[in-house]
Amino acid sequence: MYSEKVMQHFATPQNVGVIEDADGVGEVGNPVCGDMMTFYIKVNNGKIEDVKYQTFGCVAAIAVSSQVSELVKGKTLEEAKSLTKGVVAEALGGLPKQKMHCSNLGADALARAIHDYETRTHGQHPCPHREN
Ligand code: FES
Ligand code: FES
Repeated sequence: MYSEKVMQHFATPQNVGVIEDADGVGEVGNPVCGDMMTFYIKVNNGKIEDVKYQTFGCVAAIAVSSQVSELVKGKTLEEAKSLTKGVVAEALGGLPKQKMHCSNLGADALARAIHDYETRTHGQHPCPHREN
């Protein structure tokens, strides 16, 4: 049911772990299945210098987090923000329809980590969320 790429990521997930002194942390949970994903990013010069994650979830969720980490490492924050679940699923050679919701977790957790970073660095960028 899963593509070869998904099984590869599941067998040898890349960039697993925690960044203790992360510049941004983003956590999401899927209320339906109870799966959890946390992304950690290190930002330098507007680029994601390092990225790690912890995922407690299904095969698809683990493959998605591994794929997301590979896709955004070294990318600018703007590039990373444009990552969608569709892009992630495509990079994985597709996901079964009933597993598409799992790919949401990856893009969402990363987006939250970026937002956390931007919240911490308020004042260093023109921020639409300033009043929050
Ligand atoms: Fe929960 Fe995949 S079944 S994220
Ligand atoms: Fe969201 Fe600044 S962009 S806090």
